[in-house]
Amino acid sequence: MESFTDVPRIKESSDIGQQQDRVVTEEEWLQKWKMRQIGFHKEQGHPILRKYLDVLLNGRSGLRIFFPLCGKAVEMKWLADMGHYVVGVELSECALKEFFTEHDLSYSEETIPGISGAKVFKSTSGNISLYCCSIYDLSSTIAGRFDGIWDRGSLVAINPCDREHYANLMLSLMKRSCCYLLVTVLYDSNKHKGPPFYVPDSEIKSLFGKVCEIKCLEKVDDFSDQHKAWGLDYFLEVTYLLTLKS
Ligand SMILES: C[S@@+](CC[C@H](N)C(=O)[O-])C[C@H]1O[C@@H](n2cnc3c(N)ncnc32)[C@H](O)[C@@H]1O
Repeated sequence: MESFTDVPRIKESSDIGQQQDRVVTEEEWLQKWKMRQIGFHKEQGHPILRKYLDVLLNGRSGLRIFFPLCGKAVEMKWLADMGHYVVGVELSECALKEFFTEHDLSYSEETIPGISGAKVFKSTSGNISLYCCSIYDLSSTIAGRFDGIWDRGSLVAINPCDREHYANLMLSLMKRSCCYLLVTVLYDSNKHKGPPFYVPDSEIKSLFGKVCEIKCLEKVDDFSDQHKAWGLDYFLEVTYLLTLKS
């Protein structure tokens, strides 16, 4: 299943260098939404999810699917339209409201017992619940456990110093049969400070390898003008499937 054709030959370093200490605050993320610096948002959705949808669903229907750091990802609408139950978490209330408005979905707003000051936005149809809070405030007690996880722009967006906390949280949200699709990025981390942050294969193994089978599904060249403007000369997207070891 691995497809590594036409990928630039690079030496993948396990050292994430200066990025290790880089911190993007919650305020800075909210500011990005306010200033419309949301180049990460894909209006047409992500081709990787289209390509690996069958891997995520694995022949199952009516799944609970989690979108960590969801932004206003249109893939949430795709999956809800297929009859799945979608749960997302996002700091920006503006992003979540835009999601519902742009898809013409009516919704209600509730407080979340257990997370002070946080809200959950629920589609009237009942199959989309988007938590407006930090992912670190969520737990399986609040959000339940999931059959599938779509992690794009999430592990690569959190601060490198929080990766272990994030990985342990994700593991605690997985049902035994959960299929976790994870997209990471590789580039020369000396040339761009991130986000998205560089996440080498060795990091995936150290974060998840003890409890998960890790399958690399593909590694593709995604180099664009935006990456060129960041001073990079290559940019790869790597897709993994994580499943809990039996
Ligand atoms: C790179 S964007 C990706 C959004 C989405 N996954 C997508 O593919 O379009 C990262 C998002 O995470 C949100 N975010 C950052 N830190 C967060 C946190 N601790 N908890 C919840 N959301 C967070 C940001 O506001 C931003 O919308």
